[in-house]
Amino acid sequence: MLPDDVPPIGLGTAGVDDPALIADAIDTGYRFIDTAQRYGNEAAVGAGIRQADVGRDRLFVATKVHERNLAYEDVLQTTAESLDRLGIAQVDLLYVHWPLEAYDPPETFQAFDELYDDGRIKHVGVSNFTPALLDEAHDHLDAPITANQVEMHPLLPQRKLRSYLSTHDIALVAYGPLMVGDVFDVPEITAIAERHDVSAAQVSLAWLLEQGVYPIPRGDTPTHFRDNLAARGLSLDDEDLDQLERIGRTRRVYTNDTVWPTE
Ligand SMILES: NC(=O)c1ccc[n+]([C@@H]2O[C@H](COP(=O)([O-])OP(=O)(O)OC[C@H]3O[C@@H](n4cnc5c(N)ncnc54)[C@H](OP(=O)(O)O)[C@@H]3O)[C@@H](O)[C@H]2O)c1
Repeated sequence: MLPDDVPPIGLGTAGVDDPALIADAIDTGYRFIDTAQRYGNEAAVGAGIRQADVGRDRLFVATKVHERNLAYEDVLQTTAESLDRLGIAQVDLLYVHWPLEAYDPPETFQAFDELYDDGRIKHVGVSNFTPALLDEAHDHLDAPITANQVEMHPLLPQRKLRSYLSTHDIALVAYGPLMVGDVFDVPEITAIAERHDVSAAQVSLAWLLEQGVYPIPRGDTPTHFRDNLAARGLSLDDEDLDQLERIGRTRRVYTNDTVWPTE
């Protein structure tokens, strides 16, 4: 599980490479920042962290090792490079981005264990892992798995995975929590938004918070990232939750047939 002081809404930064925007988001209230080697923006995120009026010790910074860098030596070397780019001595959460390409559980997790033991990473995470892949990871990793980052929103409720994660005390971090913008086209969600006079983004995020997961909506626009943070104040009633529960259609925005079957 993530530590209790990790705020439930994080900032997704894929494609965000302006340090001033990152700093603005932090000053607005974001404390959990999600980046990745793959996004090519760790240096911009690091610069934004330094520009913000909030100390590094009050932030929870997560990055991910690119799937092509998952061989033992590459994990060690590229994580050191990520820390340099971010300008921090320790990353709070380091994920395996996808269990693909150079992913090799004994090698990959030996390197993650070493980074954990010598304090360069505070928590180990995985991303895009199914229960079977998590079982395999547990066989090779001594450090606890703190979080699994996967796509989740009202049209992809991840019920089976959530039940596995709660049994194993692993937090779910939800990417694509706004279906990359498509939540605005889901009538069941927009109807609830109208009823509460809020955005459809807030409804999706409030629903995710209600499920006890950590959404990380992407924020490249100040009005958007402010709107998203305000979802913390939206409380959905039983009728809303029931309506979302009954949507009955499934949609996965990010598909990778090697790991997740297309639904
Ligand atoms: N682990 C993985 O494999 C993986 C995969 C995909 C994503 N991620 C992470 O998850 C984060 C979020 O996922 P995502 O970027 O794919 O999708 P998302 O957060 O579901 O949707 C982002 C889109 O919604 C727009 N948006 C955000 N807030 C809005 C609001 N309040 N009103 C209207 N539009 C709004 C954004 O526009 P603006 O940008 O202009 O605000 C952007 O176009 C990423 O940034 C990344 O950090 C991880």
